Amino acid sequence: MRIFLGQILAVILLISGIAGQVEEVMDIFSDCRKSSPDFDKCIQRAFNDLRPLFSVGIPELNVAPFDPHRSPYVEQRRGDARGLGGFRLILTNVSEHGWTNSEVTKYRTDAPNNRIVYSQFFPEKSLEGEYSFKMNALGRPSNTRGVWNLTLYNYSQTTSVTRIGGPGGLLKVRVEIDKIGDMSMHISNFFGGRRVLGEKI
Ligand SMILES: *[C@@H]1O[C@H](CO)[C@@H](O)[C@H](O)[C@H]1NC(C)=O
Ligand SMILES: *[C@@H]1O[C@H](CO)[C@@H](O)[C@H](O)[C@H]1NC(C)=O
Ligand SMILES: *[C@@H]1O[C@H](CO)[C@@H](O)[C@H](O)[C@H]1NC(C)=O
Repeated sequence: MRIFLGQILAVILLISGIAGQVEEVMDIFSDCRKSSPDFDKCIQRAFNDLRPLFSVGIPELNVAPFDPHRSPYVEQRRGDARGLGGFRLILTNVSEHGWTNSEVTKYRTDAPNNRIVYSQFFPEKSLEGEYSFKMNALGRPSNTRGVWNLTLYNYSQTTSVTRIGGPGGLLKVRVEIDKIGDMSMHISNFFGGRRVLGEKI
């Protein structure tokens, strides 16, 4: 029981990037009994009861605040950035806001498959950061850098977390977008057409 709740919390921490002290925070879920038919509802309630703590953390337990959540570095690439059609996108210093006002709308334990699935609704979720984008367009390499931000309104996502292997095994996390009410996005270029790495862009 403790192990499974630990996994759930490890997931919250994983997604929100804190490497806090999972063991102690688990006590918050200790009222939920796995044998109870209300177990899933109980976990859903516990998630939502934790929300006020997202922005302040739990200092006594050494858990840092995680709304906003920050990621220093996210990279995505396709092919070779120097080859035709390849690119390399790096997002740095990404901040994500909105967890405190989010709500877990559905929670399901799929014990036989070592999986939990939960849906979350965010009235407003915003992300901001810097980017660097390298590609080779028409034989000419280009490198663009700038800042970006993205705000999603009335946004729902479903996350499934599967534990592969035994207790303490790897967690595979998949996030699916269910619905986006509205969004706004800005991407700006630090160099606005000036020379970057000796290339005109
Ligand atoms: C990272 O982003 C935060 C918030 O957007 C900002 O206050 C901080 O100065 C940034 N840090 C760096 C190193 O760019
Ligand atoms: C979000 O949904 C609420 C309730 O349905 C609605 O009143 C609001 O206008 C929506 N906001 C946006 C930005 O779409
Ligand atoms: C998003 O970026 C634009 C352009 O850089 C800026 O004017 C706007 O204030 C930013 N919005 C937020 C929510 O940070």
